[in-house]
Amino acid sequence: MPQEISILEHTATLAKYLDLDQRGKIMAEYVWIDGSGEMRSKCRTLSKKVTSLSELPEWNFDGSSTMQAPGDNSDIYLRPCAFYPDPFRKGDNIIVLTECWNNDGTPNKFNHRHECAKLMTAHEDEEVWFGLEQEYTLLDPVDGYIYGWPKGGFPAPQGPYYCGVGTGKVYARDVIEAHYRACLHSGITISGINAEVMPSQWEFQVGPCTGISMGDELWMARYLLNRVAEEFGVKVTFHPKPLKGDWNGAGCHTNVSTKSMRQPGGMADIEAAIEKLSKRHKEHIALYGADNDQRLTGRHETASMENFSYGVANRGASVRIPRSVQAEGYGYFEDRRPASNIDPYLVTGIMVETILGSIPDADMTKEYQREIS
Ligand SMILES: *[C@@H]1O[C@H](CO)[C@@H](O)[C@H](O)[C@H]1NC(C)=O
Ligand SMILES: *[C@@H]1O[C@H](CO)[C@@H](O)[C@H](O)[C@H]1NC(C)=O
Repeated sequence: MPQEISILEHTATLAKYLDLDQRGKIMAEYVWIDGSGEMRSKCRTLSKKVTSLSELPEWNFDGSSTMQAPGDNSDIYLRPCAFYPDPFRKGDNIIVLTECWNNDGTPNKFNHRHECAKLMTAHEDEEVWFGLEQEYTLLDPVDGYIYGWPKGGFPAPQGPYYCGVGTGKVYARDVIEAHYRACLHSGITISGINAEVMPSQWEFQVGPCTGISMGDELWMARYLLNRVAEEFGVKVTFHPKPLKGDWNGAGCHTNVSTKSMRQPGGMADIEAAIEKLSKRHKEHIALYGADNDQRLTGRHETASMENFSYGVANRGASVRIPRSVQAEGYGYFEDRRPASNIDPYLVTGIMVETILGSIPDADMTKEYQREIS
């Protein structure tokens, strides 16, 4: 049995220290993805307000403590790639998203951003837009059971919870509200939130974002969610099937459009893209999240994992064309296969590779092999 976890944060008391003058110095919280796909961060003082990425120094850390390097060669380098206003410290303080690099100049295990960015740059002219619908589930910090559920039991069956309103229908709206504000403050392109089908399951949407910024913004939104949840004493899981049985899984539906799909007549491009996707179903599924087989069962508004399918307004298909898009003859499509625990760099990367063409020096399938080997 794990020991009881108490919330030891006193954020109301902390608030008065947050007003203290920083004497021109700023705090920069460097965030990275560790050797198990989880996020880590540490902070440093910078001498003045940062206005461009090039002002941010490279940094390093002990990769042997994060499953990212052996103890005898443990330095991992953090290369800043985007920065955001810090909603916790406020003022000119920032949160810095970084890529991890090994001592020998190769990208670290979970640094899939590097390869993804090459594909995004190669296809820059097509201005690919993505929208991600991040579903997630809240857990009790002590026993890891679904947050707010009766201990050893279950709430009433699914039905009243999706976009629910009222006591017993939604759980932890305070956490979600705080996260939403934090994202807006940080300049994340968060486009909405809603309660999901299973109680204590929620969704936030990020997008539309162009190219590499999709992965950057989704990772930052996840980081903010985990930070907010600390203060409320709630755990967040991105597992695609947090509870076996007749309860919904969690996905990360991916809306996609290219410049030509968004113009009148774009339906032909959408259909051509779907045709290409149908031929690489297995390659995509391999990159669409661990344990996704527990979710893509053909039930609970999912398609089976085995075969590719698509349809207009069909939530049971792998890829869905919204009815409004079909009516107008242009727009975007939605890939419903990705699980909630995806690395968005792998998903957006292989999407661009498949629909717009591969490039000689980036291969998302090999990129993933590097992670699991
Ligand atoms: C994706 O498309 C659906 C409609 O098909 C829309 O409701 C949703 O808001 C979009 N999400 C994002 C993040 O763009
Ligand atoms: C997938 O397709 C194959 C071949 O058409 C078929 O035999 C199989 O039943 C399908 N699987 C599912 C889960 O629909």
